[in-house]
Amino acid sequence: MTRKLEGQKALVTGASSGIGKAIAIEMGRAGADVVINYLSGDDKANQLAGEISQSFQVKAIAHKADVSRDSEVQAMFERMRAELGRIDILVNNAGLQKDAAFDEMTLEQWNTVIGVNLTGQFLCAREAIRSFKRQGILEQISRAMGKIVCISSVHEVIPWAGHVNYAASKGGVMMMMKSVAQEVAHLRIRVNSICPGAIRTPINHEAWETAGAYETLMKLVPYKRIGEPEDIARAAIWLASDDSDYVTGVSLFVDGGMLLYPGFESGG
Ligand code: BGC
Repeated sequence: MTRKLEGQKALVTGASSGIGKAIAIEMGRAGADVVINYLSGDDKANQLAGEISQSFQVKAIAHKADVSRDSEVQAMFERMRAELGRIDILVNNAGLQKDAAFDEMTLEQWNTVIGVNLTGQFLCAREAIRSFKRQGILEQISRAMGKIVCISSVHEVIPWAGHVNYAASKGGVMMMMKSVAQEVAHLRIRVNSICPGAIRTPINHEAWETAGAYETLMKLVPYKRIGEPEDIARAAIWLASDDSDYVTGVSLFVDGGMLLYPGFESGG
């Protein structure tokens, strides 16, 4: 891969494992300096930062912050400004699941998922747009004033029993992303989402780690393989680069066809 993002500064939230980690690595490979936001596991995050800066000769900084807390988000952006000078790319990736039957779901389970998955994306996107506007367009770096990539889910459109808080948060991400995209397009700020299907990460390990679970999962995946974090990372690099300069307000499904109503492969 060429260094398409040379000189750009990227913030990836929830980047110490899973999809976020793969995106942080690909950002480095593409030549961007990267802030690796994480919430727990200082050693893992610092080690990843060391590996990225060594492998790709970019700056990589691990920064601990809870994206659902405004003051922590502010402090993270301040540090990014102080150490990297600007922000060109935000990848709103931090997310979690707190699954429960709907009538047993606690308010805490509801609020935690909405707080991280939706409010966290709002707080980071708001701060990124404030920064983009202060900075202006730097033509030699990118045609856009800034790029935001929201990591949503197939569950922004596929209802999900037992995961109502999660599906509601991702449905919220979809309308937030599209409405913000509409609001800031005239500034040349692009806002898009990636909607992963089943990807091999810790969040859904129960769905793929045994042969039986994997077989059941494949009934939902026409392409008949689980996604890898790199499948999402490559899409994120594309959405962050000028290769997608005319793309904004789009939900890009990277899901092996999960959205194709696989139950209708036969019959109907
Ligand atoms: C969820 C995973 C799930 C996948 C497909 C993702 O958004 O986090 O747990 O396997 O959607 O259902």
